[in-house]
Amino acid sequence: MLFKQQALLRQKLFVLGSLAIGSLLYLVARVGSLDRLQPLCPIDGRFGPHSQDEIPLRALQFKRGLLHEFRKGNATKEQIRLHNLVQQLPKAIIIGVRKGGTRALLEMLNLHPAVVKASQEIHFFDNDENYAKGIEWYRKKMPFSYPHQITIEKSPAYFITEEVPERIYKMNSSIKLLIIVREPTTRAISDYTQVLEGKERKNKTYYKFEKLAIDPNTCEVNTKYKAVRTSIYTKHLERWLKYFPIEQFHIVDGDRLITEPLPELQLVEKFLNLPPRISQYNLYFNATRGFYCLRFNIVFNKCLAGSKGRIHPEVDTSVITKLRKFFHPFNQKFYQITGRTFNWP
Ligand code: A3P
Repeated sequence: MLFKQQALLRQKLFVLGSLAIGSLLYLVARVGSLDRLQPLCPIDGRFGPHSQDEIPLRALQFKRGLLHEFRKGNATKEQIRLHNLVQQLPKAIIIGVRKGGTRALLEMLNLHPAVVKASQEIHFFDNDENYAKGIEWYRKKMPFSYPHQITIEKSPAYFITEEVPERIYKMNSSIKLLIIVREPTTRAISDYTQVLEGKERKNKTYYKFEKLAIDPNTCEVNTKYKAVRTSIYTKHLERWLKYFPIEQFHIVDGDRLITEPLPELQLVEKFLNLPPRISQYNLYFNATRGFYCLRFNIVFNKCLAGSKGRIHPEVDTSVITKLRKFFHPFNQKFYQITGRTFNWP
């Protein structure tokens, strides 16, 4: 009898022990899986569960890995359907200005979990051949994203191309438009530097900046030179204002984006009605590059390509002074229209 009771007790103890070990193992496994679900980077981590613009955790986890695969065309139709991914027309476009810092702006905005960038410049609205292919062609050029995310593309040629405002208006009259500007003379020299590099690569000779920017007959600023014309921001903006109200534009200070990117990005987040998610953690200064680089999470960071941040040739100071004087009245008008003042000379 006693033996039978002892056996029963042992059996009960065994069952209880097994249950305890089982629960422990379950907890360990659960914590492990929760741990894997923990976001890797602070941008993701700051998405509180009750955030108004909540983005499912899955969206955040897949954004950098899976979406990347999808963009490269590696996703199966089934994966796209399963993850509810779509190719959406952009809700915002960086329309220019060339050499203003358009690539840096796009890449930095892409740090935001609710933003998905179109990696390539699509040139849909400024290129007649592309435009003739229709809006579906354009949409198919967009990256896959979740419906609650926004797609952003950048094609700096849009800002200066005559037909573009009307074409974009026809697609979406309430689209948000981003323009990143730099001090006009610096931007013009940057523009020249890019063209010069292209010529040198092809072993071609090229004129000096001074020769192009100043008309040798009049000794005045050569307004036929494209790099000069592009820097007359107000002239271009006025064409856009025939289609869109000024409230639909946001002007980004490209010079400040170089030295102090975060406050500029926070202004853009606000303009796009996005919750503030880009933080100082996502941007670190790289002394070798001399620029801020991007940190997505503990393992993934990147700087912009070497073609961004070229060394400019030295330009005659009298030419610089002449150009600055030339741009001055246009700049004043630009400040007046946009309501954003810069300390341009
Ligand atoms: P420079 O090459 O004249 O220095 P865009 O992308 O519109 O072509 O603009 C290029 C400019 O972006 C560069 O001009 C560079 O100064 C600027 N830029 C801004 N932030 C940058 C960053 N974090 N890394 C590299 N370049 C950056």
